This record gives sequence, C-alpha cells and structure tokens, in this order.
Amino acid sequence: MFSIEHLFRKSAPHARTADDFSRLPAHVAIIMDGNGRWAKKHRLAVAKGHRQGTETLREIIRHTDDLGIRALSLYAFSTENWSRPQEEVDALMQLILDFFASEIDELDAKNVHILILGDKSRLPRLQQETLLQAEERTAKNTGLHLNIAINYGGRDEIVRAARRLASLAAEGRLSPDSITEHSFSDYLYTSGQPDVDLLIRTSGEMRLSNFLLYQCAYAEFLFPKTLWPDFTVADYDDALMAFGRRNRRFGSRS
Ligand code: IPE
Ligand code: IPE
Ligand code: MG
Repeated sequence: MFSIEHLFRKSAPHARTADDFSRLPAHVAIIMDGNGRWAKKHRLAVAKGHRQGTETLREIIRHTDDLGIRALSLYAFSTENWSRPQEEVDALMQLILDFFASEIDELDAKNVHILILGDKSRLPRLQQETLLQAEERTAKNTGLHLNIAINYGGRDEIVRAARRLASLAAEGRLSPDSITEHSFSDYLYTSGQPDVDLLIRTSGEMRLSNFLLYQCAYAEFLFPKTLWPDFTVADYDDALMAFGRRNRRFGSRS
C-alpha cells in the first residue's frame, strides 16, 4: 500500500498534506471518456479531442507515479471501438505511436513497468511492434504498473483465461478442482497485480463498457462529470480523497 514517506520523498505539485492521502488505492482504473464531446464543444474534429486527451493522460500518469500508487489501468481503446468511423480509428492508432514515441524515455527513466491489456494481434504491425518494445524495455522496472488497455474487452479477457485453463485441463496438466478465484486471476492480463480499488470514469457516463470486469468486483466507483481532456490533477486528487472517505465493507459488518 501507499506509504507517507513516499509522498514526502517526491514533491507533490499541490498543497495537499500527507493526511489528505492517508488512504490511497493500490490500483486505480480510469475510463478516459468524453474526448468526442470535448471536441464537439470546441467545434473541433474528434481527433483533436483525442489528442487533447493524451495531454491529460500524461499529467495523470505523472501524478499517479508521484503519489506512489502501485497500479494504474487506463482504457484507451476497447474491442468495441473498432466500430467507430475508420478516420477516427486511424487517428487513435496514430496517437498510440505518438504517445509512446514521446513518453517512453521518461516512463522508463521513472522505473514505470508498462503492460498492454488486450489482444495486440489485431492492431497494425507498427503499433504491435511499438507496444511490444515498450513492454520489453520496461519489463524489469519495479515502479508503477502502468496498464494501457488497447483492443481490450473484459469478457474477451475472461474467455481467454477460461480457454487456457480448459486446454491445460484437457492436456492433464491442471486439475479443474484446483482452480480458485485467485488462481483464475493469474490467467488475466493483470496477473500478479492487486484488484482495482478505485474506478474513475469521466464525462458523467455511469457504465463499465466492458472494462476490467473481473478485477473491479469490489472497486469503488466515481463518475466525475468532467470531460477527459478537461480532467485536471486537482480533479484526480479530489477523486482520490473521495475514495479515502469511502467505507469499504467487502460484505462484512466492520
Ligand atoms: C473516449 O472518448 C476515448 C475513446 C473511446 C478512445 P470518446 O471518444 O468516447 O468521447 P465521447 O464519449 O464521444 O464524448
Ligand atoms: C469506453 O468508452 C472505451 C474507452 C474509453 C476507451 P466508450 O465511449 O467507447 O464507451 P460507450 O460506447 O460510451 O459505452
Ligand atoms: Mg465515449
């Protein structure tokens, strides 16, 4: 979990006290929603909204790392997003390349471990290579687990896990009785990482849209109305503090 020493070791950009952050989540998941509406509001092409969204992304990743949060999962492209206009899909694919080209050195220097959640094989060759390189380059890093969901679907992830377990069982390498909730999670993309504690979805939409279905079983949910390109580090701090005030019971009385 989060340590107070950690907060003081790195200088937080805001005048928050360590007390404000005394109960930070170990794993934050964010559904970065509202780029399209932001573009519309500013009478810009939707691609400009997505580009502006990557500015927010940069700030949020930095701040998450500064706070010493263990894992951050970001929903960048869902298995359903292929159904958007080709021009928009192309713009998002280009942003993936641009984002990694500009960020990878800093992320690696900050000891960030990058993991792509989702099936990379459906992506264009260059995107596949870029993502694989980012994962390989940061594989030994021990800092923030930065999970970026690209061509990701929660049901797809669960079905893949089930398929792998079934084939291991069919080969006689695994007894079906040995499968537990915990061991099942080892077959998900997020294997070895803590469950999601806090899920934030910007833009006021209140749905999961197929994100981290298994990992969010006991997550706290926050739905700020702010559109993703307008979401600031201060808004993020507010969400983290609201999380700290939640009474998590996990089904018990205490
Ligand atoms: C989220 O913003 C980003 C992606 C899905 C890639 P949207 O593009 O969904 O924004 P809205 O929902 O249209 O405002
Ligand atoms: C979810 O947002 C996917 C991402 C943010 C990448 P969408 O905008 O695609 O979800 P729906 O269509 O509103 O459910
Ligand atoms: Mg949306």
